[in-house]
Amino acid sequence: MARGKFITLEGGEAAGKSTQIARIKAALEARGIETVVTREPGGTRLAELIRGLLKDEYEDAPCDRAELLLFLAARAQLVKNVIKPALDAGKWVVSDRFSDSTFAYQGYGRGLPLDAIETANSFACDGLKPDITFWLDVSPETALKRRLGREAATNTGADRFEREQAAFHERLRAGFAALHAAEPGRIARIDANAAPDDVWEEIWTHLKPILS
Ligand code: TMP
Repeated sequence: MARGKFITLEGGEAAGKSTQIARIKAALEARGIETVVTREPGGTRLAELIRGLLKDEYEDAPCDRAELLLFLAARAQLVKNVIKPALDAGKWVVSDRFSDSTFAYQGYGRGLPLDAIETANSFACDGLKPDITFWLDVSPETALKRRLGREAATNTGADRFEREQAAFHERLRAGFAALHAAEPGRIARIDANAAPDDVWEEIWTHLKPILS
């Protein structure tokens, strides 16, 4: 049986990833491809518990190195128990965030050394890399507007990452741009300021050739 493909969606806050993930899943399943959707951090019991530890505000919140290692612990569990078995069974996996978020947030955002992240991340993933990554690039102004709208609609507050200063979010975007420049064949930049239908059109132009 052919191994499945591994698709990831990346970007800063409120880039519209969930909407596009639902469309990717629907498009794949319409072509008879069994699709597993997951998210990071999360997707297993342990990783969802770690997600809470990472996103919540509390006294003694993780320092930068502990934060990195918690993300990687969650990833190791997800790769071993969910992603690799699904790919081996010929299913396709679509993940809301994966390793590129670690380089962008903990590397470019927090300033941890990229070579240390590379080594530790590769160990956590047992070498697994996405086949294709969509970087949903949204301007800081659009992201903020969307986030405030969502918070008002759902009556929720910002998490530990969303609360970061504008400069942090600018470093993330520069980080994703650098990752895209280094691997343009794997990471496709998608203009996510556009309406969801237009964003989907752009994703589809990249996805279609992989399907045929
Ligand atoms: P989200 O699911 O709402 O996007 O929340 C996940 C948060 O965790 C988001 O702010 C990005 C951040 N993150 C990292 O900092 N490093 C990582 O490796 C991953 C996967 C996410």
